[in-house]
Amino acid sequence: EYPLLFWRFLSITLRAKSSFTIVPRSGGWRVEDELTVTIQLRDYNGNPKKSGGDFLISKLHNRELGAGVVGQVQDHLNGTFTAVFPLLWYGMANVEVILVQTSESITVLKRLTEEQFRGVTKKSICNVCLDPDKAPLCNFTDLNTGEQWFCYKPSGLDCNTRVSHVKGGFNQRISKEEETLFKKYEYFFFFFVSVGINMKVPIMAVENSSINILPKTKKIKPGPSGYYYGHQWRPIGSPTVQQFNSTSVITACFKGKQLYLFGDSTIRQYYQHITKTLPSKTFFFHTQLYNNVGPFLAVDHTNDIMVTYRCHGPPIRFGNVPVSQLRYVANELDGLTGGPNTVVLIGVWSHFSTFPLEVYYQRNSVALTIRRAVQRLQNRAPETKVIIRTANMKDLTLYESLTNSDWYSLQRDKVLRAVFKDSGVLLLDAWEMGLAHYLPHSLHPQPEIIKLMFDVVLSNACPKQGG
Ligand SMILES: *[C@@H]1O[C@H](CO)[C@@H](O)[C@H](O)[C@H]1NC(C)=O
Ligand SMILES: *[C@@H]1O[C@H](CO)[C@@H](O)[C@H](O)[C@H]1NC(C)=O
Ligand SMILES: *[C@@H]1O[C@H](CO)[C@@H](O)[C@H](O)[C@H]1NC(C)=O
Ligand SMILES: *[C@@H]1O[C@H](CO)[C@@H](O)[C@H](O)[C@H]1NC(C)=O
Repeated sequence: EYPLLFWRFLSITLRAKSSFTIVPRSGGWRVEDELTVTIQLRDYNGNPKKSGGDFLISKLHNRELGAGVVGQVQDHLNGTFTAVFPLLWYGMANVEVILVQTSESITVLKRLTEEQFRGVTKKSICNVCLDPDKAPLCNFTDLNTGEQWFCYKPSGLDCNTRVSHVKGGFNQRISKEEETLFKKYEYFFFFFVSVGINMKVPIMAVENSSINILPKTKKIKPGPSGYYYGHQWRPIGSPTVQQFNSTSVITACFKGKQLYLFGDSTIRQYYQHITKTLPSKTFFFHTQLYNNVGPFLAVDHTNDIMVTYRCHGPPIRFGNVPVSQLRYVANELDGLTGGPNTVVLIGVWSHFSTFPLEVYYQRNSVALTIRRAVQRLQNRAPETKVIIRTANMKDLTLYESLTNSDWYSLQRDKVLRAVFKDSGVLLLDAWEMGLAHYLPHSLHPQPEIIKLMFDVVLSNACPKQGG
């Protein structure tokens, strides 16, 4: 068997043999020009790859200037890729191209979503869909939103006895051979062939990865939603983000307002962030028993500020959620009056990674039920500020990449952006804000990035205040 595996390894994408080249431009580069980079992926023998499908990301940055922007990567499906960057600052800029997952590992991920879904259907007690021929079902489908949730009926108990919801674990099975497709450290196959690092690794430049950007001469329309400069986020085509550095400016912004946070743990981070900055006399109601799950409530009576956090409904992979607290975001939105003093921040993405994409966006699935509820809220109270947080990239281990790969997140993120396109909500682009930043990718972005993201939220909530 070994020789067979051996030959297969020689054909997978190897980052050490892959490279990128800056496409030269006569007269150099000026602010508002575009920089194009071509990327050639190669296999172990150094032969150019003939097909695409690899997941690459790119950014252009300058650490000293606190500047960074994401490049638009295009897969030509023949082993070459192009990354295009708008040039937004004057001075040096360094290109970084990262191979997040090889096309070979993505093939494994695609198979796992299918298997995982079928596997959990067989093994777990509750899921988005279960086989009714195996055992009687309890149907917990939400009557209002239509979001599906089923459990096998426990024998001797009726369906009304459900108490709590516990993450059942994953069932991701891959072979030892397939494991080598998810390596963050140098790995030797068959003692002498290094398959190298193939997950979240930089691809090197053929010659030079830097360019010097000269002052601008003409205008072009750039692709990314924003960029960093001077350690601040500058959205492109939307109002300036102001800086809310102190308790007093944050309190002044939120005076008389209610902030509703709905979603997963990446939304809970904003609750943690704001409650640290609210005045000391704030009343906090953080349920101790279900500490990660919420619901959480913070009230500042003096300034008439209320902040709440609530996790989204099934499928949710939190440890232990009392069923009384399993609420669909769409239903919670229907319970809001809304108005100019209501700010709603929603983020639902990470817990859907192991389910087929349809579970995220089909007719009565979370993305669309939330979209419809947001529309109803906007009809009732058009001045309500609704902000949707996108997915973000994370630090990938083998376990993480099988259950929660950035590649899975990217697919869901594309759907989310399409669903909320032209819906009048603000997209908090956590994907680009994480990727363009110099700090490493993390499922829960570092406090520094959370602060920059919250500046975007506050700038939207209070266009006139802040620094
Ligand atoms: C790959 O496709 C691109 C875009 O169609 C083309 O410009 C390039 O020449 C192709 N490269 C190879 C090696 O076929
Ligand atoms: C589950 O309940 C919903 C809502 O009552 C209903 O529309 C759906 O058909 C039911 N599904 C099954 C499989 O019983
Ligand atoms: C390579 O980088 C240097 C700065 O480090 C720059 O001055 C030079 O123009 C670059 N060369 C090319 C070919 O882009
Ligand atoms: C906010 O803090 C940042 C980082 O410390 C600083 O660069 C900026 O000038 C501050 N802005 C205001 C308005 O205080």
